[in-house]
Amino acid sequence: MEETRKLIQEELALFESKFNESVQSRIPLLDRVMRYVIKRKGKQLRPMFVFLCAKVTGVPVGESTYKAAAFVELLHTASLVHDDVVDESLERRGFFSINALWKNKIAVLVGDYLLSKGMLLATSPHDYRVLQILSEAVKKMSEGELLQMEKARNLNLREDVYYEIIRNKTASLLSSACAAGIYSATSDQELTDKMREFGEKVGMAFQIKDDLFDYGNEDIGKPTGNDIKEKKLTLPIIYTLNRVDGPTRRKMIYILKNDNRRKERIAYVIQEVVKAGGIEYAEEKMFAFRDEALNILHTFPPSPILDGLENLVRYTTDRKY
Ligand code: IPE
Ligand code: IPE
Ligand code: MG
Ligand code: MG
Repeated sequence: MEETRKLIQEELALFESKFNESVQSRIPLLDRVMRYVIKRKGKQLRPMFVFLCAKVTGVPVGESTYKAAAFVELLHTASLVHDDVVDESLERRGFFSINALWKNKIAVLVGDYLLSKGMLLATSPHDYRVLQILSEAVKKMSEGELLQMEKARNLNLREDVYYEIIRNKTASLLSSACAAGIYSATSDQELTDKMREFGEKVGMAFQIKDDLFDYGNEDIGKPTGNDIKEKKLTLPIIYTLNRVDGPTRRKMIYILKNDNRRKERIAYVIQEVVKAGGIEYAEEKMFAFRDEALNILHTFPPSPILDGLENLVRYTTDRKY
């Protein structure tokens, strides 16, 4: 991961100063929240994908790529701020979430502000195409989160619906990040489509990994066990519920529906998932998506940047937080 960062060190440094600059505001409250957002930055995986994909063909990175990277991270940050409101989650990136500190009303408006700052980056005609690619993700992310809410209400047990949800809410942004990255540098439609597909596979693996974290008790900088509380049925539990005997299934569903706040009840559900092999199953699917991504990657000519991308893909499934 550090080695990969080194390949795009200069780009990331300039990106960060652009990002920080673009979220400044003259409204004191907004400025305070923004300074907090800047201080508690995340892994910046999406901008890394933007830069590496842009550099795959060897073209030097220009203004358009920086804008794409900044937009992607602004959009990602906005989606996290809103997501924590929706999930009633009080911890993010190892500290309090925006809604925990400033309450929901402010978090909703701050999320909108971040998104608008992203859109304002598209100022030249070439940027519009990049904006278009990324706006596709904005739409899909909302659709994904809403589809997930709808399915949480009637306890979705279908694997294909789960994939549809994560393809929209998470893979769409990684997909657009990779597409926008290469397009910003080359304007090549064929390469853009290939990178879009690559990013989608990475995004699928990325969200399955995130959902697996929810079953652990490692410190990942945000709460675990939250998905069960929110009745979000992810791959490990979908697999399990479709395999356990009737009484166990009924008991698990009862807990999910009516008793999903108590620690020992959540622990019971997790224990059944572990016992049924739900974790291994999800891991298997995650690695399959990773390998599909790597196969697409290997159609590009070998280079240090390509190795960097491969490392980043592997980091997605092997990361600790
Ligand atoms: C978390 O994304 C949100 C999901 C799509 C699962 P990241 O794990 O990339 O979050 P940060 O930006 O590093 O905090
Ligand atoms: C991903 O889902 C959220 C977005 C795509 C915005 P999660 O709800 O699982 O993300 P975390 O776990 O809160 O980061
Ligand atoms: Mg969440
Ligand atoms: Mg999660």
